[in-house]
Amino acid sequence: MTKAFYITTAIDYVNGQPHLGHGYEKVITDVIARSRRSLGEKVFFLTGVDEHGQKVQQVAVSEGKAPQAYCDELATSFKSFAARLGASNDDFIRTTDSRHKQFVQAFLSKLHAAGHFYKETYKGFYSPKEETFLTERDRRPDGTFDPQYGEVIDLQEDNYYFRMKEHQSWLINHIESHPEFISPPERRNEILGFLKNSVLQDLCITRPASRLNWGIPTPFDPAYVTYVWFDALLNYVTLPASLGDLTVLAALEGEPNAPRSTLHAPPSVNLWPADVHVIGKDISKFHAVYWPIMLKAMELPLPRQILVHGWWQKDGQKLSKSTGNVVDPLAVIEEWGLDAFRYYVVRELDIGPDGNWTDAGFQARYHAELANGLGNLVNRSLSMLKRYRNGIVPARSDELVGEAEKVARETIEHLKRFQLQAALQNVWTLVNRANQYVDQTAPFKLAKDPSQAKRLDEVLYNLVETCRILAVLLWPFIPTTATKIFQQLRLSDEPNKFATAAWGGLPAGHTIGEPAALFPRRN
Ligand code: MSP
Repeated sequence: MTKAFYITTAIDYVNGQPHLGHGYEKVITDVIARSRRSLGEKVFFLTGVDEHGQKVQQVAVSEGKAPQAYCDELATSFKSFAARLGASNDDFIRTTDSRHKQFVQAFLSKLHAAGHFYKETYKGFYSPKEETFLTERDRRPDGTFDPQYGEVIDLQEDNYYFRMKEHQSWLINHIESHPEFISPPERRNEILGFLKNSVLQDLCITRPASRLNWGIPTPFDPAYVTYVWFDALLNYVTLPASLGDLTVLAALEGEPNAPRSTLHAPPSVNLWPADVHVIGKDISKFHAVYWPIMLKAMELPLPRQILVHGWWQKDGQKLSKSTGNVVDPLAVIEEWGLDAFRYYVVRELDIGPDGNWTDAGFQARYHAELANGLGNLVNRSLSMLKRYRNGIVPARSDELVGEAEKVARETIEHLKRFQLQAALQNVWTLVNRANQYVDQTAPFKLAKDPSQAKRLDEVLYNLVETCRILAVLLWPFIPTTATKIFQQLRLSDEPNKFATAAWGGLPAGHTIGEPAALFPRRN
């Protein structure tokens, strides 16, 4: 079985309802996943939820619910959220799935048996809110800790630790010799700076069940549960393992704790190593430092790339439920349509820097770029073909072939490099060119002059063929709109193959369907 292009999002904490940050990450990951499918590749896109740990347990308790029942409700919300965003994920993992828990335990057993863990007493500061141990270095100049940590307590307890120091130098080498491993470069430099300027502390990978029991029991000591991050990161390999991925299962050969049923089942996927983990900037250390070390210790190959996006604000302020400074993606979709949301977040913010949502900016792009740009082009092109030629495609004409094929080529190149914003900017050069072509050639004037019939045929062909190509290029970003364009052109295929972006796909004599507004104008 050929290996699929395997792409993942972070798995979201279910300590609240999904928000713009979660939505953004799923959309950009989906655009990449769809673009690889359009390139003809086999793709597997995984997303899901992170259910264990203190954060989730606290909310469940505060709502008077048992953690599992609470998580079941929230997991349903997150799953339907992904669907409402048009995410084309192939599976949805929950860390409370037994398929996940079994493999987490198998890997823990393997690492324990191989001597990667040791038990030690910790005495010091602890933030229950962030489930994190803190040191003197975390104190601010006035002696207090950052408010993100909540109440910081003195703690003394025994835990298991993962030995980190032996991994520092190979990891630095790996990052230096694989420039694409952490992207964009600013994030790579940040991680390299951290690794070169500090000694990695061993990672505490358990919590005593007496203090926190909402976690996966550690197989080698029932008095403990697994630290939530250790459990969560493993989702990227437990899901492939549960579907029979041979690379992951090979790492568990001879491990008595590995689920036997999977070991003997025929593989239904070939996924590992992942091609891209898409994550936000706040969790880059977990993914670019701890995760590679865990994989190396488990004797598994490393992912090809960790792609780190920035954070959204609204009106220049942090998103926050308590101040009401939020964007509810589902409300935006309800009002403006799914593709308007997908288009705005990708067009507004490149993968890397932080972004700022403003309602005015959203509406401006909707009107200028979607309604008056793309929508108007498709609507007037198809309407004129209906009106002047009964909807029948004239003979091929190549006036815009150079521009369309150049845009197609460049867009595909951008997509291969995950430059989603640049890809959209590039596609819009064709939208604008075609709208300008309508104004310059004035088909409505040509239609009044019978001696210009051939010229009108040429113009109409160039316009509808450009619309068809635009649909193919835009499918990864705004799949509903792309499909509508194909339906209005009465093409029975899906616009999901870049190979069909070559000029001349619309055959002469083909009759198109009914044009209808793609992005209705609003006040
Ligand atoms: N559960 C962990 C991830 C474990 S991955 C093995 C977690 N969950 S989270 O719900 O807090 O965040 C999920 C993702 O959403 C992260 O990649 C995070 O960076 C992203 N975002 C959360 N808020 C965001 C914004 N305001 N803007 C953009 N992305 C943001 O961390």
